[in-house]
Amino acid sequence: MAKVLLHFNFKGGVGKTTMTVLDTYLLNRMGKKVLLIDMDPQANATEIINTTFKNKERPKTSFYDGLMKFDLSDSIVNITDNLDLIPSDWALSSWPGKVEKYNRHDRALILKNLIEPFRSKYDFILFDVPPTLSTFTNNAILASDDITLVLQTQRQAYTSILKTAKYMYQLREDYDAKYNVLGVVLYLVKNNAKTDNEISNSAKESFGDAVFKNYVYQQERIKVFGDEGIRDNDYWDKRALKMYQATLDEELDRIGAIDNE
Ligand SMILES: Nc1ncnc2c1ncn2[C@@H]1O[C@H](COP(=O)(O)OP(=O)(O)OP(=O)(O)O)[C@@H](O)[C@H]1O
Ligand SMILES: [Mg+2]
Repeated sequence: MAKVLLHFNFKGGVGKTTMTVLDTYLLNRMGKKVLLIDMDPQANATEIINTTFKNKERPKTSFYDGLMKFDLSDSIVNITDNLDLIPSDWALSSWPGKVEKYNRHDRALILKNLIEPFRSKYDFILFDVPPTLSTFTNNAILASDDITLVLQTQRQAYTSILKTAKYMYQLREDYDAKYNVLGVVLYLVKNNAKTDNEISNSAKESFGDAVFKNYVYQQERIKVFGDEGIRDNDYWDKRALKMYQATLDEELDRIGAIDNE
């Protein structure tokens, strides 16, 4: 049965897509069967996967049309033997307006129901979501099993992560949902800079052991992945992948620890 994973923070530009796509890439490289669902109309995750794997194929039915007919099976594109993608496109941005006619409770659970038949086919299903609170994010949160919060070490981001965490727990209570919040990954803006240290110290004070032991650091090479796809060529590529492998391993350990409780 698949584990459904989400990386989240309300705030934009904090590294959600990068982490989600690299986790997808690394899980695929580990031989896991993975489905990535790109729920962000910006389609950044779709672009990185398509560029990385030189994919030009489009789904038979767009993600938006799949959502409208409550069946996503024809919205999946096969990328490698182990990796499938539900690509996003701009049309997806009109979906929240179309489901307003359903009551608040039901419209937040659409995705959870739609991915149910896929759970037996994959080891992992990952979502990439747009920032801010929306029908997209509520659907992704409620469809997930394990959620990792991403905190960029800037003051404003620290406030937003506290709000994000509070919202997660409130939503879980409101819907009697079962998802786990695995913890907080610190995305360090500048290595060892004063603000980074201050913010990581306050994050540890607030979240304790919930703060991941492995941090994500700024690496110029990662910006290239956005335009050129993920590369696994030289020292710098390997270094970047190794850093994300460490946070991924910690995510998997944390999931294992919860499952063994
Ligand atoms: N570790 C890193 N080192 C350097 N640059 C990074 C790193 N991680 C992400 N970036 C860059 O930071 C920018 C924002 O990252 P990303 O798109 O993953 O954030 P996001 O939270 O998904 O944004 P949005 O909220 O717009 O969806 C991108 O240009 C990305 O290439
Ligand atoms: Mg993104």
